[in-house]
Amino acid sequence: MKIAPSLLSADFARIAEQIAEVRDAAYLHLDVMDGRFVPNITWGPKIVADLRPLSKQTFDCHLMIVEPERYVDEFRAAGADVITFHLEATCHAQRLLAHVRSTGARAGIAICPQTPVAMLADVVEDCDLILVMSVNPGFAGQAFVPRSFEKVRQARALADERNPRCEIEVDGGIGEANARELRDAGADVLVMGKSIFGAPDPGAALRDLHALLK
Ligand code: DX5
Ligand code: ZN
Repeated sequence: MKIAPSLLSADFARIAEQIAEVRDAAYLHLDVMDGRFVPNITWGPKIVADLRPLSKQTFDCHLMIVEPERYVDEFRAAGADVITFHLEATCHAQRLLAHVRSTGARAGIAICPQTPVAMLADVVEDCDLILVMSVNPGFAGQAFVPRSFEKVRQARALADERNPRCEIEVDGGIGEANARELRDAGADVLVMGKSIFGAPDPGAALRDLHALLK
């Protein structure tokens, strides 16, 4: 079970310190937002490149942007290890997954709460990761959409059938109240923003979550 702390909830003025506090997490989740696909705006490739020397963790870039095909190469050059884009944001998901892999990154595809897992049936073999959004993307600290448990089960079953090495990641509204149920539903990676960086001691919060998921 991997935990991916989401830097969206970190204090950007102390970003290096906050990254050091979560160094035991397997992934570092970087939410890229453009103010168009989602209402919020975060950061671009330069910030990813500047953060890269601070951590050896897997940089898990979640692109919440329109026309993600325009930016894959830049995020890869900046140091992204996993590049995940939204199915809803591009017309040619299969081509883009293949392109992400051709850069040497792992290719992820994300679906919003309204998109059925079945929409991924014909691209699952082209994916290294499926990201089931358990909130509507855009902001940290939102309430978990309960239907997501079933979607995680469906995504795991789809991957088991056609691409067992594909990881299932879940993002939004996750914490100690639902983490174990998500693991049991088949999740491999849990993204957490507020539950880690909203805690008084993010390092301790991460240790507690790792212990809970053992
Ligand atoms: C939301 C982002 C998430 C966000 C999760 O659109 O994709 O990664 O940081 O934050 P929490 O864990 O607070 O819901
Ligand atoms: Zn995210």
